[in-house]
Amino acid sequence: MLNSYPSRSQRLAYTETGTGEPLLLLHAFPLSKEMWEPQLAVISSTAGIAGSYRCLAPDFPGFGGSEPPAAGEVSGMDDLAADAVALLDHLGIERAVVCGLSMGGYVALALCEAWPERVRALVLADTRAGADAPEAQEKRHTTAREVEESGSGVLVDSMIPRLLGASTLAAKPGLREQLERRIALASPAGVAAAQRGMAARPDRGAVLAGLRIPVLILVGDEDILTPPEESRRMQREAPGSELVILPGAGHLSNLEQPEAFNRALFGFLARQTV
Ligand code: MLT
Repeated sequence: MLNSYPSRSQRLAYTETGTGEPLLLLHAFPLSKEMWEPQLAVISSTAGIAGSYRCLAPDFPGFGGSEPPAAGEVSGMDDLAADAVALLDHLGIERAVVCGLSMGGYVALALCEAWPERVRALVLADTRAGADAPEAQEKRHTTAREVEESGSGVLVDSMIPRLLGASTLAAKPGLREQLERRIALASPAGVAAAQRGMAARPDRGAVLAGLRIPVLILVGDEDILTPPEESRRMQREAPGSELVILPGAGHLSNLEQPEAFNRALFGFLARQTV
């Protein structure tokens, strides 16, 4: 079901699929809630899982069906976390399992820092806890200006080979085309605001180290944007966390190897006592 809700200064779109334990799915940059289709399909159709999870997938401002931020506005990761919490509030949900991939993971950690009582368990996929180095921050500001001048399509050629692993690029041309279309659809204001927000995010290693909830870390073994070494570091930092490395997947592991991702995600969730 496609819906919308009021957040800081925009109306944001979200989908709600299934019933049961709330599972908040936070999307990557520069994509939208559509990236969670392989997980939502399982929720709707698989015996043993159907009826277990109520999946909530919002679009951050300027992505998918959500209104864009105002010109010059910055989507800080704590702002996007507030948007995610506003969805829980809108639906009267006190606590959820939070799962974020890449930028969604940055947002998930910001949410754990500011609203720890709202998070029942955490899944961090293809992401990192650390902040950007100064050169990476500078590059994000340049990209934000380029997108504002020329549109989100300028991201396609540089991003796709880094988002998708070598195996996917060779074997799944349809996924590449789908991503090209989705990236070009992102609003320039949303993309620029998110780039500036990611550039400003602090190191949240201490947040990870302070968690006392179940944590699963997932990463594609061909991820070159947030390589497996980052995930191994996060696992060392997060007490009692589990790490699953997904073979044949790049940065968008949930789309590239959906069966293995779903096995790891829903297997982990089934093991939690909730
Ligand atoms: C993402 O997939 O969300 C981005 O690659 C995150 C980033 O640019 O750091």
